[in-house]
Amino acid sequence: MAAYIVAVTGASGAIYSRNMLLALNKLGHDVFLTVTEPGFEVLRAELSWDLPWFGGLGFNETFKSYLCWQAGSRLEYFDYRDVGARIASGSAKTDGMIVVPCTMSTLSGIAVGASRNLVERAADIMLKEHRPLILVLRETPFNQVHLKNMLELARMGVHIVPAAPAFYHKPQTIDDLANFVVGKVLDLLGIEHNLFQRWEGLT
Ligand SMILES: Cc1cc2nc3c(=O)[nH]c(=O)nc-3n(C[C@H](O)[C@H](O)[C@H](O)COP(=O)(O)O)c2cc1C
Repeated sequence: MAAYIVAVTGASGAIYSRNMLLALNKLGHDVFLTVTEPGFEVLRAELSWDLPWFGGLGFNETFKSYLCWQAGSRLEYFDYRDVGARIASGSAKTDGMIVVPCTMSTLSGIAVGASRNLVERAADIMLKEHRPLILVLRETPFNQVHLKNMLELARMGVHIVPAAPAFYHKPQTIDDLANFVVGKVLDLLGIEHNLFQRWEGLT
């Protein structure tokens, strides 16, 4: 099984991060998780998760209980301010990184190599080690700065995945919509899943 860095930033769409974590857990993959301070605000606002953003003892366990994390894969949490954490180095064995949801702020930081926090630093590592980096971006409409940053990163091989669910699989619930986006990310990583019904053509 593989190990992925999952970074949660302060864009709307906390359901995408929750469902991504649950899918990776269900499929038996290890997760190294980090959440920015605005990311915590959105988890609180959208999922009513009252997580103390400063972390602390038992923090990992709190996260696991919110997610109903099943045994079988590892969830390890890292403070987003800790730019000396294990995942801030290319020597850490990881198979890729997903920023979900990804703000325009973090997009810009990654595009210029700012490494202002652990999210941007870990993404910088993915770029230098040529490992998969997937940004699940959430903003609308996009301005020219957003589009320029996306194009620059796409040219470097970064996967730009707007949080834009399709409707051809006839979603019935909000989870169906979120899982479409999660499934598209798993497709990019070559991970088998059945999160949505694939298009079979017009009948
Ligand atoms: C409730 C809420 C929703 C937000 N939604 C978005 C969003 O969808 N996209 C975005 O780029 N920024 C959004 N923001 C603004 C970012 O949180 C803000 O730019 C922040 O500085 C990003 O920091 P981060 O990238 O380190 O998490 C939102 C802020 C709040 C409080």
